[in-house]
Amino acid sequence: MSSAPRTILVTGSNQGLGMHTVHKLAATPNVLVFMGGQLEFYGGKLIDASTGSRKLAAAEEALAKFASEIDASSTVVPVQLDITDATSIKNAHAFIASHLKEKSLPGLDVLINNAARLGTFEEVYSVNIVGTAAITEAIRPLLKDGGAILNVSSTLGSLTVHTQRPPPMIYPAYNSSKAALNSLTLLWAIQEEEKKSGIRIVSICPGYNATNLNQYSGTMHPAEGCMIIVQTALEKEGKSGIGMHTVRKFAAAPNVHGKLAAVEEALAKFATDVDASSAVVLVQLDVTDAASIKNAHGFIANHLKEKSLGLDVLINNAGRLVPNFEEVYAVNVFGVTAITEAIRPLLNNGGAILNISSTLASLTWHTQRPPPPLFLAYNSSKSALSSLTLQWAIQEEEKDSGIRVVSICPGYNTTSMTQFDSNGTSPADGCTIIVQTALEKEGKSGVFSTRRVRWLGEDSIRADRGST
Ligand SMILES: NC(=O)c1ccc[n+]([C@@H]2O[C@H](COP(=O)([O-])OP(=O)(O)OC[C@H]3O[C@@H](n4cnc5c(N)ncnc54)[C@H](OP(=O)(O)O)[C@@H]3O)[C@@H](O)[C@H]2O)c1
Repeated sequence: MSSAPRTILVTGSNQGLGMHTVHKLAATPNVLVFMGGQLEFYGGKLIDASTGSRKLAAAEEALAKFASEIDASSTVVPVQLDITDATSIKNAHAFIASHLKEKSLPGLDVLINNAARLGTFEEVYSVNIVGTAAITEAIRPLLKDGGAILNVSSTLGSLTVHTQRPPPMIYPAYNSSKAALNSLTLLWAIQEEEKKSGIRIVSICPGYNATNLNQYSGTMHPAEGCMIIVQTALEKEGKSGIGMHTVRKFAAAPNVHGKLAAVEEALAKFATDVDASSAVVLVQLDVTDAASIKNAHGFIANHLKEKSLGLDVLINNAGRLVPNFEEVYAVNVFGVTAITEAIRPLLNNGGAILNISSTLASLTWHTQRPPPPLFLAYNSSKSALSSLTLQWAIQEEEKDSGIRVVSICPGYNTTSMTQFDSNGTSPADGCTIIVQTALEKEGKSGVFSTRRVRWLGEDSIRADRGST
């Protein structure tokens, strides 16, 4: 009697590395591959996918390229799957589950998260992170103990690579999304370890391949590049992968702008401490709202112009910690990027951008045991922010602007984010490192600063337990 086939779902397999991965897997004996693609049909065995639709031709075309090489003991089953579409994910899950049941197979051995794209922050993150997290969550219950989740990542996700010169190619959204994906690899690995499921989570870089993603500029053929993904998918064993208190210290009579009741209330708490030679100017700013960013930029630019000043320091302090990926990334990654892009032209040469991050961004910490607290969206968003710090530092270096870009962890503080956990330090103390860095006129760029400065990517990033 033949043994059960190795069952594998590959996302984003219409073309490129995904398609070649399906091809090579199917050319191997005794494999059942679900070929996930943004196809307008719901699968059946190989080309007997039914309902005619506008994109069916693309699917058939992709399959036709290697149909003759499919091993007699193996099967390719196309599955319509857009990982940014909740209905598509639900249907794909139901389809795969019923297919496995029909064949009396106990589950899936491997999920290969291959789908990804380049583009704007929203486009990139909706696929590379939010979509990847959604499909993983949906498919996870189908995975067999001892199985694997393979995240097709990139060396461009490495923070260490961004501390080296010459620097890598800079795609802020893409590179930071892959840093976040590597963080998810480590977070999911910890969760599986805690469940004792034996499920491995691995980040894989297939090398630089000529695909649609990079307009076919890669130096390897994806038929070759996919082999590391194929090998890892066939292996049955292996390892799992890789505030307001700040303003108080700077602060005159406030100039009130816009609807600022909350911030006025906040300011009232320390208005008497504001030095006579300093000023606090209130600015309405929601970093997730383009109109608010535009207005804030206009207001700050006018105010500085009136005083014949530029801006020395941007402190990206806004951040969120909730379970929902969209909400977290909207603030911690897209919002930070949007306000930085808008404010950057106002910055003086020799100035600084300070990204308030967390030691929970540290990939190294996630490889240590006991692990850090697991906030999937938050931790991975801060890993993405570390990548942005390093990429912006490289861009400023290339412009010779003298602008430093620094990530700062203020430690674990008693704030709304930590539900005012009394084990935290007072944010009046936690903010000191932010204040000091903002007042320093010189220093290193591309660094992660906690209480002492260290380079991102170094193994020595201190793992302060409990820091957010
Ligand atoms: N090429 C390289 O040099 C390189 C290097 C390192 C890592 N990687 C990684 O390798 C993986 C494959 O990339 P590739 O180079 O093969 O690029 P590609 O040819 O552009 O393939 C990307 C695939 O992802 C699919 N996709 C995009 N959005 C999707 C969504 N919402 N739902 C489902 N599928 C979606 C695309 O579907 P459509 O065909 O429908 O557009 C396409 O099939 C990616 O994770 C990439 O980051 C590539």
